[in-house]
Amino acid sequence: MNKAEAVLQTIRERRTIKPKEFLQESISDEVINEILESANWAPNHGKTEPWRLTVFTGEGIKDYVKIIEKVFAETADHLKKPEKLAKWTGNAPFASHIIAFGVKRTENCALPHVEEVCAVSCAAQNMMLVATAHGVASYWSSGIAHMPTAAAKFGLAGEEDQMLGFLHLGLVDKGIEVGGRKSPIDTKVTWVK
Ligand SMILES: Cc1cc2nc3c(=O)[nH]c(=O)nc-3n(C[C@H](O)[C@H](O)[C@H](O)COP(=O)(O)O)c2cc1C
Repeated sequence: MNKAEAVLQTIRERRTIKPKEFLQESISDEVINEILESANWAPNHGKTEPWRLTVFTGEGIKDYVKIIEKVFAETADHLKKPEKLAKWTGNAPFASHIIAFGVKRTENCALPHVEEVCAVSCAAQNMMLVATAHGVASYWSSGIAHMPTAAAKFGLAGEEDQMLGFLHLGLVDKGIEVGGRKSPIDTKVTWVK
């Protein structure tokens, strides 16, 4: 298999796997560090490197759950669905690691905010692909990310800082059923020749 085939295969193999499928086994520090390193190589406009990550593991997962509960409690009722909270907090204990990731806006940055969101999303994809290459399953939950007080709880206190999600990572048995695509890429591409 050449390099391009290997990359494409990893991209196809990365499929969302929900935490309830995770085995109660820990991912090694070495693998987690490689996953984190991959985030730092995401493309970003203006060399802002806006990704900020908080890693929860072991007893730290309980701290993650507390933050979720607090942000949820602080949010106005019309912005939240009570049944979701149990889902988010219930998923957490299955994960070996949860990486909370968000955007740190550079002061006086003239770039559109959406470009920083794009860069951090690329960092998230990098992490999921390296995870996949190591046989680690991943699940991007946006959960409470967009609730008003969320970002500050993860050290992102700037006015334009923003959480994007919570990457739940775990080890799984092979052969778990995963989703596909509704339509092939040709249906989403326009060629101009
Ligand atoms: C920005 C973003 C937010 C997401 N948030 C959630 C979420 O809150 N809950 C969830 O079940 N899946 C979430 N996902 C994962 C998607 O459900 C998943 O990517 C989609 O079903 C396609 O499956 P695949 O990842 O296997 O290709 C999110 C994905 C992205 C990119």
